Amino acid sequence: MDKKNIDWENLGFGYVQTEKRYVSNFKDGKWDDGVLTEDANIVLNECAGVLQYAQTVFEGMKAYTTEDGRIVVFRPDLNAKRMVDSAKRLEMPPFPEERFVDAIEKVVKANAEYVPPYGSGATLYLRPYMFGSNPVIGVKPANEYQFRIFATPVGPYFKGGAKPVTICISDFDRAAPHGTGHIKAGLNYAMSLHAIVTAHANGFDENMYLDSATRTKVEETGGANFIFVTKDNKVVTPHSNTILPSITRRSLMYIAEHYLGLEVEERDVYVEELKDFAECGLCGTAAVISPVGKVVDHGKEICFPSGMEKMGPITQKLYDTLTGIQMGRIEAPEGWLKVIE
Ligand code: PLP
Ligand code: COI
Repeated sequence: MDKKNIDWENLGFGYVQTEKRYVSNFKDGKWDDGVLTEDANIVLNECAGVLQYAQTVFEGMKAYTTEDGRIVVFRPDLNAKRMVDSAKRLEMPPFPEERFVDAIEKVVKANAEYVPPYGSGATLYLRPYMFGSNPVIGVKPANEYQFRIFATPVGPYFKGGAKPVTICISDFDRAAPHGTGHIKAGLNYAMSLHAIVTAHANGFDENMYLDSATRTKVEETGGANFIFVTKDNKVVTPHSNTILPSITRRSLMYIAEHYLGLEVEERDVYVEELKDFAECGLCGTAAVISPVGKVVDHGKEICFPSGMEKMGPITQKLYDTLTGIQMGRIEAPEGWLKVIE
């Protein structure tokens, strides 16, 4: 199979329209069989639930070309599960997990020419999403929904790839206790737009959100969880019920413990202790692990010893092991790679 003529090495994290996407509709209490379509556009009633009350949830994962030329997807079963949790929280009918994984396989196969070649630094990003599609004017859940998955080849989320970023502690809150911070709802991202535009305008790459109840604990950024490394090489990640349970972070904590033999801790992480960490990284499907060189807390700079030039040594080992597993260079734990072809 010939690959598309794309400048893979220079792709950013943007939308490139590919040929095929998957669509299934929910009507009269059930999901239809679902099909692949070439139509990238959606026609909706002006009063559709998603347009009026933001009833929409989404997911994100990637397909990779391995060193030996296979196409694999990283842990799509966990995305399927998380999307069920997201849907339930917004009173949407869950899309069945096995059908989710099957639809992912169909979309990747249908767009195989867009899966970037091994070694190019790019990957095929997969975006499943669903939304309320019938007219809703009183505040209530829709009763018709559409589930779709599109694919788009992407490069690094942050310009500069593995160069450390500078982030600021945000004055805006991302998630409330007992709110929707733990699910992947579009509304969480809509409300983060003003905060990220403000951070960029002030010269920062990202926001560090704190827990909104006490504003003393580290939560996450708008699109990634945090990992920290202590000076004695422990890998620490914030425990919180109001952050998204990142599949990348869960995988990295497993890798730290079982591949690298490091101690790991999921616990409260206080702003106060940021100055004591040796390394910091943002982790997620899009971010992979993006090193953080500096956190700015209202003018006060907290500089990690790993510096602004490259990743810290433990972050680098985590990065190499994770991407090694995803690209088939390092043996994956049972069930982590779904082989497409
Ligand atoms: N946190 C937020 C708010 C996100 O949007 C994402 C991206 O999906 C993550 C964390 C990372 O999650 P994952 O590793 O499952 O992609
Ligand atoms: C992902 O990593 O898949 C996300 O959804 C994060 C988003 C900021 C692109």
